Amino acid sequence: MGEQRNFRVWRGDDNGGQLEDFQVEVNDGEVVLDIIHRLQATQAPDLAVRWNCKAGKCGSCSMEINGKPRLGCMTRMSTFAPEETVTVTPLRTFPVIRDLVTDVSFNYQKARELPAFAPPADVAPGEYRMQQIDVERSQEFRKCIECFLCQNVCHVIRDHEDNKQAFSGPRFFIRAAELDMHPLDTRTDRKDAAVEEQGIGYCNITKCCTEVCPEHIKITDNAIIPMKERAVDRRYDPIAWLGSKIFRREQLDKPAGYATAGVATAPRPNAGTADTPVEQAAAHGAQGDISANWHREAAAGHAAPVGPDGKLPVTEFTGQLAGAQSPFGDDVEFPMPATDINYQHPNRPDEH
Ligand code: SF4
Ligand code: SF4
Ligand code: FES
Repeated sequence: MGEQRNFRVWRGDDNGGQLEDFQVEVNDGEVVLDIIHRLQATQAPDLAVRWNCKAGKCGSCSMEINGKPRLGCMTRMSTFAPEETVTVTPLRTFPVIRDLVTDVSFNYQKARELPAFAPPADVAPGEYRMQQIDVERSQEFRKCIECFLCQNVCHVIRDHEDNKQAFSGPRFFIRAAELDMHPLDTRTDRKDAAVEEQGIGYCNITKCCTEVCPEHIKITDNAIIPMKERAVDRRYDPIAWLGSKIFRREQLDKPAGYATAGVATAPRPNAGTADTPVEQAAAHGAQGDISANWHREAAAGHAAPVGPDGKLPVTEFTGQLAGAQSPFGDDVEFPMPATDINYQHPNRPDEH
């Protein structure tokens, strides 16, 4: 039997709510999400909370714990003093659905607005080759679990509802930076888009987003600041400006097949004018690797499945398509009768 601790949890919905106090058992090694589950099991069966993995990997259990945005499943109870009241509230930036569950669809909308990865049209999937050195910088951003804690804490979104339209937030700045640093991404306008469409200029580098990121991604230092600097270079450095004009003119002479659907066809800045894997390898000073079939004729290119605006269609918003087939079959109704469930309790082997 663990000790009794004081918990305070926000209960309510979009019409309003209040904090409710609980005395609840806490055992060694437990995390805040364990305590929320114990409250559901013992005192508040209708307490709503979103979670999935309980391992800090799905990004679902974002909440504010003693006013700080955190993952419930990664916040150990041992970090609080025994006499301290632990207060759990929903993310404040997004509309509450019920109790600790908020509507984070703002983030999905912003994700949809970001042009997708645009590989060269003349290199088929399976033929993509990258140097390790070229992917190391952006690898950090792939750790993002989309918990949206950074979005929640960013004051540009949190304190100014009218900014939301023009500002996509730190999670999507790292996505833009990741694609901008990607050696095979052919879009050259990601810096301009970061300024004009994502509103990166509103960010005043307070670093609050970096402080709360559970994946310890250096959002400001490694993504936002480099993107801001690149955007400024592109706009105000006369040599870069001249260079971009010259490259664009060269690009007009490229074969039409090079163009990716809806994508500006200027060469990738980090690959010089190299378009094929062999040219890219040469541009990096590496020998073409025969074992990797560099010499082979590439299959016909596949354009990324994007629309003329370079964005992926979101069929789940507009289509009638159902999700994947149910593993139980489509004619099963829930809740299933107990006889159809083959789970057996491990402590009661003879029960069916
Ligand atoms: S550094 Fe920029 S993006 Fe991050 S929280 Fe501050 S204003 Fe928002
Ligand atoms: S960048 Fe960090 S805080 Fe932001 S959504 Fe990704 S994992 Fe969460
Ligand atoms: S439950 Fe998946 S991150 Fe917490």
